[in-house]
Amino acid sequence: MKIEENYSLEKHNTFHLPVKTRWFMEYADEEELGRILRDEYFQECLSLHIGGGSNLLFINDFNGIVLHSQIKGIFVVEETDDSVLLRIGAAEIWDDVVAYAVSKGWGGIENLSHIPGEAGAAAVQNIGAYGTEVKDVIEKVEAYNQLTFEKRTFTNEECLYDYRHSFFKNEHNDPYIVTYIYIRLNKKPRFSVNYGNLKEELSKYPEITLQTVRDAVISIRRQKLPDPKELGNAGSFFMNPVIPVGRYEKLKERFSDMPSYSAGEGKVKVPAGWLIEQCGFRGKSHGAVGVYEKQALVLVNLGEAKGHEIALVAESIRTAVYDRFGIEIMPEVKYVG
Ligand code: EPU
Repeated sequence: MKIEENYSLEKHNTFHLPVKTRWFMEYADEEELGRILRDEYFQECLSLHIGGGSNLLFINDFNGIVLHSQIKGIFVVEETDDSVLLRIGAAEIWDDVVAYAVSKGWGGIENLSHIPGEAGAAAVQNIGAYGTEVKDVIEKVEAYNQLTFEKRTFTNEECLYDYRHSFFKNEHNDPYIVTYIYIRLNKKPRFSVNYGNLKEELSKYPEITLQTVRDAVISIRRQKLPDPKELGNAGSFFMNPVIPVGRYEKLKERFSDMPSYSAGEGKVKVPAGWLIEQCGFRGKSHGAVGVYEKQALVLVNLGEAKGHEIALVAESIRTAVYDRFGIEIMPEVKYVG
């Protein structure tokens, strides 16, 4: 077990904010996690479990315990003629899992290539891209209850998945720490390539294979999204708002080019990037906080930005979008502090 005091989280958040945590604890396995959870000091402290830190905004230093898993491994636990079931340690880098699956010829997550973060957080957050969400392949999730220390295996249904949401994100539920996720992949891949410009990008490749879909997705993401290693950011800062179709049609009378995607019966999803761009923020900056010029949904740290400065810019964006369209956009990024 690794325990550090007054530890910098700069390398543990993709905005690269140089915040500190009072304690940083990294556990290697479930037994070490159990020891931490049962510790009285831990029970009294404020705690936060992080993955790759690709969806966090630290407003200030964290006066508590930041936990990080080192539980790794990708294991085939079941194999049939058609599919494989993988058990994956929560600390595996998500994109390494995708690369591994693609190299084995197992389909289902190739559209989720190049998403930063770790496997456990992917299941908590229900990451999604190019018409696929991780919930589509998740079969079970193993997790520990932080209050009762009990281990529970959640079925996909019990995870209560929704757009960028799950049981684990609901603050009213007991806090759980995900240790392993199970995903079922297809040995006879069915491709899903009709989303947006994926089809267009794929036309540059001689054929559609798991590898070319992965390459095309990576190519689109590289064009649109800043690499956190070069420019601090947390991907989409806001979620795309979902509104009733009737309301969308009314808005369309005033804003005829407002794009939308179907979001289930009677509802549509409006791209927040479009709303933000219409309010004039794209490519603009305020101090060291920028709105990415190629995708207005992404806020970037241009250098020495502080968490509260990023939050202030986010707030002015939310207000401007609300004033113009009457639509409330909610952060996808989790604020800490
Ligand atoms: N758009 C603009 N201006 C912008 C950005 C977007 O007009 O500055 C409009 C365009 O009409 C574009 C549409 O928004 O066609 C959609 O843009 P994009 O395909 O880039 O997708 P998104 O809806 O902005 C979502 C996810 C991304 C995911 C992409 C691709 C959310 C919050 N974001 O973005 O996920 O990669 O779709 O599937 O749902 C993330 O969650 O961090 C993330 C990057």
